[in-house]
Amino acid sequence: MGRLTGRRIIVTGGASGIGRATCALFAAEGAKVAVFDRSAEAAHAVAGPLGGIAVALDVSNAQQVTAAVAEARAGLGGIDGLVNAAGIFSAAGLSDTTPDLFERTLSVNVTGTFLMVQAVAPVLLEGGGTIVNIGSGVGITPTGPGSTAYVASKGAVIAMSKAIAMELAPKVRVNVVCPGAVDTPMTASFLKRPDGSTEPGIAARYALQRAAVPEELAAAILFLTSDESSFVTGVTLPVDGGRTFH
Ligand code: NAI
Repeated sequence: MGRLTGRRIIVTGGASGIGRATCALFAAEGAKVAVFDRSAEAAHAVAGPLGGIAVALDVSNAQQVTAAVAEARAGLGGIDGLVNAAGIFSAAGLSDTTPDLFERTLSVNVTGTFLMVQAVAPVLLEGGGTIVNIGSGVGITPTGPGSTAYVASKGAVIAMSKAIAMELAPKVRVNVVCPGAVDTPMTASFLKRPDGSTEPGIAARYALQRAAVPEELAAAILFLTSDESSFVTGVTLPVDGGRTFH
């Protein structure tokens, strides 16, 4: 028996990076996954081999979220869990962040998380369930100047998740995983040197002196989705190689 046998779980941003690794691990642990992503083709490429379903949407669009959750509920035969891993990054600092960029970053990272939780919560409240939102270490402590909109969005995800954890308890557990630097398409342009090692200036921020691979995040997301974390809710869990604890 897997740790998620019989569970039906939506993973947003499931076509890439952390979401993709989460879909693979969840399927290996017996879950049926719905891969939610803005690219239908990429979502199908992940869902197909896992025996899951693919749903294309923009998580920041309320109508698309409502329709996608209804499609997943019908396709999976119910919903027991949600992982919100869809997100976009911006490195722009205060003076370079246009109002449009600020708005777009918050609309995907915060509004998208909010809309997904709001749409799935009534289903989870029927039989119980779990929600894991992906924040970021920068939402706890920024790494330095820059990323104004992104940092704002991740701080909001952490705070909002605590309020939601109170509101949906005791039937639904809500937790946040805050990754440090992870080797995914989101970070491909700055995280690694040509030899594959982590950029030294980035590695130096981490007690473990390296970036993570997506599977290391998926393992934490699995813990918070499985019954092994049955007494854990409202938690913000850094999975960050020891960047934010000191
Ligand atoms: P990624 O870029 O590899 O994957 C993100 C996925 O989200 C993509 O498949 C993309 O198509 C999807 N997506 C983006 N906007 C969307 C929208 N409006 N509607 C539907 N799908 C959308 O990124 P990665 O690295 O896997 O990031 C996953 C989460 O982890 C994000 O929330 C990110 O902010 C967070 N994170 C990542 C870190 C890293 O170092 N990679 C560090 C800290 C947090």
